[in-house]
Amino acid sequence: MLESIAVASVIWWTFMGGLGSSPFLAKLSKFWHAWDVRNSDGYKRLDKLHERYGEYVRLGPEELSITDPKAIEAIYGLRSTKILKPPFYDYSFPRRSLHSARDTSEHDKRRRTAWTRAFSADAIKNYENRVIMYTDKLSAQIDSDGTKPINITKWLAFFAFDLMGDLAFGQSFDSLGKGDFHWGTKLLRDSGRGHVVLGKLPWLIEIIVRLQPFTTTEMQTFYNWCAEQSEKRKHSKSTEKDISSYLLDAEPMSSDPAVNEMWRQEDTNLIVSAGSDTTTEVMSHCFYYLAKQPIHQQRIREELKVFDGRHPTAKEFLDLEYLNGYINENLRLHHPVPCGLPRMTPPEGLQVGDRHIPGNITVCCPQWMTGRCMSHYSASLKLLMCGLAPKTYQRPLEVIPERWYSQPELVINKGAFLPFFAGRWSCVGRPLALFQLQNMITTMVSRYDVAFAPGEDGSGIIERSVDHVHLYPADMLLTFAPRKTE
Ligand code: HEM
Repeated sequence: MLESIAVASVIWWTFMGGLGSSPFLAKLSKFWHAWDVRNSDGYKRLDKLHERYGEYVRLGPEELSITDPKAIEAIYGLRSTKILKPPFYDYSFPRRSLHSARDTSEHDKRRRTAWTRAFSADAIKNYENRVIMYTDKLSAQIDSDGTKPINITKWLAFFAFDLMGDLAFGQSFDSLGKGDFHWGTKLLRDSGRGHVVLGKLPWLIEIIVRLQPFTTTEMQTFYNWCAEQSEKRKHSKSTEKDISSYLLDAEPMSSDPAVNEMWRQEDTNLIVSAGSDTTTEVMSHCFYYLAKQPIHQQRIREELKVFDGRHPTAKEFLDLEYLNGYINENLRLHHPVPCGLPRMTPPEGLQVGDRHIPGNITVCCPQWMTGRCMSHYSASLKLLMCGLAPKTYQRPLEVIPERWYSQPELVINKGAFLPFFAGRWSCVGRPLALFQLQNMITTMVSRYDVAFAPGEDGSGIIERSVDHVHLYPADMLLTFAPRKTE
């Protein structure tokens, strides 16, 4: 009996198409998808799949990629309380951090008793001086190079890693000082290539971990190094509070001290992995459009005039409509995780508009496509159709900061814009991320005229950035000519 049910369900999912269309092999096994993304251009390939098969594309026997804007709120919004994290998140098996904890009660307890406190309004004030300090360090580096072109994507990564190293371990990685990646952060970035494939076959992670005594990996060396740094941080007396201060003071997760230590160490690593590549990617694209369309530099400077050369405070940044609209446009068009993050439907299934998705299906909304809202149209009609019948944004390929304040008619479906997600699994670091972006952009456009270096047109960052779950922006050479007045 059970066998015939199993056979019937395989036939349904395989031959009837289940909920979405896809290449035939994708219906049979996840190996197809793992193979498809091996060249680090997964988001471009996924865009083509949506172009061909529509809004609902099957990427595996029980997995759907969805560009329907209605799905975004249902899966990642405040009301998505029954949505779970799938085995993709077992990447640190058998250890767990706030991000990889799939058990909702365990996750919620950790978030409430450690991380929400670390990102309260008062706590963030302690981090702002560090953000300003590392931004100034980058600016000093630009000054010391004179008018020489700067590979800005690399230097923004140095900034982000130094800041997060400081907030996690009480000391930076000193990349801004040395002009190079720390060996550990380089490994962390390089490991993304493996993760993009392993993330599609999460059961392989468990096998690899069980084989580990025979396969000491370079990443293990990095994690051991992080554990040493976090041990040092535990015994040091930090004068100014950092994120680790709150992890050290957090309520225990267990009566077993070893389990509590595991949480502290994994969450300390999480500060670096969640807070570095994400902001690097968005900042890099912000600089791309500053150079490509200098009107944004002028408009941001005009907005800053009221401060008469003084640095705006975090609270004052919130009122800068053009600046925040500009950041939103970059988050919309260039989200750091372009193929989106997977979720699992609850056992009773999920209703998206008039579509029912069965229970225990992995679903994912790829932000690179949903931010542009047109991947489901055929290639030849793409631009034309987007002009005629956009679903989420009017003029979706243009950077128009005003769409977020004075021209709301350019946003058709506001609920589809959730770059940090909302609710249980959302980004707890959002206010810090926004402050970094606001501070970096305003500092740089106040001090310099930002332009492409001779021979650079920025096409590399658009064409050659690599998709290793996070998008790693390609090199981009910019010049920073000092402005006469700040
Ligand atoms: C522009 C920059 C950023 C963006 C767009 C962003 C976006 C996101 C998103 C979409 C998630 C959900 C991830 C998932 O479900 O797998 C997330 C989670 C998280 N982010 Fe961010 N993030 C950014 C910067 C930061 C920064 C600077 C930090 C600081 C450490 C941070 C800390 C975290 C943490 C700890 C989580 C896990 C939250 C949880 O599972 O409860 N993020 N972020």
